[in-house]
Amino acid sequence: MEGKGALKNKQVVLKQYVKEFPKEADFDVKHSTIIPSIPDGTKAVISGYGVAKVFKSTNPNFREGNYIRLGRIYLGIGGYAAYVGISYVAEPKQRAVVYISAAAGGVGQLAGQFAKYLNGCYVVGSSSTDEKVRLLKNEFGFDDAFNYKKETDISAALTSFQMALTYILTMWEAPLLHMNANSKIVASGMISQYNLEKPDGIHNLFQLITKRITMEGFHIVKDHLNHYDGFVDKVAAMLECENIYYKEDQTDGLENAAAALIGIFHGENVGKGVIVVAED
Ligand SMILES: NC(=O)c1ccc[n+]([C@@H]2O[C@H](COP(=O)([O-])OP(=O)(O)OC[C@H]3O[C@@H](n4cnc5c(N)ncnc54)[C@H](OP(=O)(O)O)[C@@H]3O)[C@@H](O)[C@H]2O)c1
Repeated sequence: MEGKGALKNKQVVLKQYVKEFPKEADFDVKHSTIIPSIPDGTKAVISGYGVAKVFKSTNPNFREGNYIRLGRIYLGIGGYAAYVGISYVAEPKQRAVVYISAAAGGVGQLAGQFAKYLNGCYVVGSSSTDEKVRLLKNEFGFDDAFNYKKETDISAALTSFQMALTYILTMWEAPLLHMNANSKIVASGMISQYNLEKPDGIHNLFQLITKRITMEGFHIVKDHLNHYDGFVDKVAAMLECENIYYKEDQTDGLENAAAALIGIFHGENVGKGVIVVAED
């Protein structure tokens, strides 16, 4: 705060329309001051999903100096995308084998844990480094995982799994060959395609016909905002019984946000990418 009701504001902006892959030089950091129009004495609750510091409180649960945040990633966008994808789109049966690509990321790590703990599934994940694979197996509780960059034959790596469901964040073709009849592909994201002028094609689509596989995409903002309250209740209840593990990949300073964002497109993040804007 600066003076009465003045807020310092920092923004990362794109200097111009970016074609193909973004570079750090495409971004700029801008500083400004915002004067919010909140009348003196306002008692209304200002809601938000950011971090707040308690200045004054008579509630023993929120003491002066405490930082408050609605939830860590499991109650943020990544957790909500994972929950909607598993609970409303995938709807896997108990003991179904669920395969998740980009599994160590913000959405993937929770999609796997939700499928396992909310639906009792057998969960297999893939990621790009041995360290991420170790995390998947040892920390995120995946039943199995493999490094898709080291695996020379991804199809062979998937052979032992009869997949009822594939929760796709990247990589399409090989899983199609190993899915069960009447199984489903849930398309949450397609990061490998975001910066391409000419999108890749997909092979093995004939499998959709022979195995009667369905494929469904979803968008949490356009179709599913109404499930948010149920999500918070259900996940909060689950957290009391299960040891949900989450990992954030922290970058300090908004000045470094562009580099961190670009790093995500190279798999440099281990867990959900988070920018620490200020210590206070
Ligand atoms: N449908 C929705 O409503 C919704 C909502 C939120 C997010 N999403 C989507 O869900 C996906 C995951 O989001 P997130 O925030 O959790 O990101 P993230 O998984 O934390 O980061 C992206 C990961 O994707 C992999 N990756 C990056 N570039 C790649 C490439 N060119 N080819 C193959 N893999 C690549 C990397 O993992 P590896 O190191 O394992 O390769 C990277 O760590 C994104 O596609 C996002 O757009 C969808």
